[in-house]
Amino acid sequence: MPTAAAHAGPLRVFVLGASLRSGSANARLASLVSAMMADAGADVDLATMREFDMPLYDGDLEASQGVPEGALALRDRLEWCDAFVLASPEYNASVPGVVKNAIDWVSRVRPQPFKTKHALLVSASPSLVGGNRGLWALRVPLEHLGTRVYPDMFSLAAAHQGFAEDGQLSDAGLNERLRETVTAFLSLVEADARYVCLQRRWYEFLGDRTGSSVTQRAED
Ligand code: FNR
Repeated sequence: MPTAAAHAGPLRVFVLGASLRSGSANARLASLVSAMMADAGADVDLATMREFDMPLYDGDLEASQGVPEGALALRDRLEWCDAFVLASPEYNASVPGVVKNAIDWVSRVRPQPFKTKHALLVSASPSLVGGNRGLWALRVPLEHLGTRVYPDMFSLAAAHQGFAEDGQLSDAGLNERLRETVTAFLSLVEADARYVCLQRRWYEFLGDRTGSSVTQRAED
């Protein structure tokens, strides 16, 4: 896949359903977000975590065999996009180990791909909070890696009864709110990708060498 740097054509968005489970509610939400993004004119790449098989992070394994294929495949998909969406479950009020493990492996690759991307976080859960606490926890590693995580997030509560047969949300008002969130996010990504005056990067990723100044945080 070609990388996202200064490409022509529609915005590229990678949408990842971050659960391994075959009947995943987050995969359904990822699919709906993908359809909404395609409706808004984006070029969408939809995947689930099942496509990115990788062992638990182990420094010895990395030293002897390098970063595993599954993590490199995920890196490639991230490299291609301008922005990504994570539809992630919440486990015990936080980020599922599978998701954090994938972030940890991919963060070992240079150039580290998260730092030039925008991200939108969404979740689905049968609970009443919809997995929203997991998304707050997910912001931490992503923002650490330099991803510009969109301030607004979307969490679908009671997800086991939240989808209509056509894949839309059964609550029409909620469906509209998700569409508004998706289109507003795309507008921000569009502004950043297309308008040079906005292309200032604000990182705090200590894994990068930023030149002579140890404390340099912004790049033009
Ligand atoms: C959960 N689940 C869950 N849900 C939630 O809203 N808050 C939570 O803290 C947890 N904790 C939790 C821990 C573990 C270990 C499991 C297996 C599950 C329920 C979870 O949201 C539910 O299984 C979702 O359906 C998972 O997402 P997918 O696989 O359907 O996308």
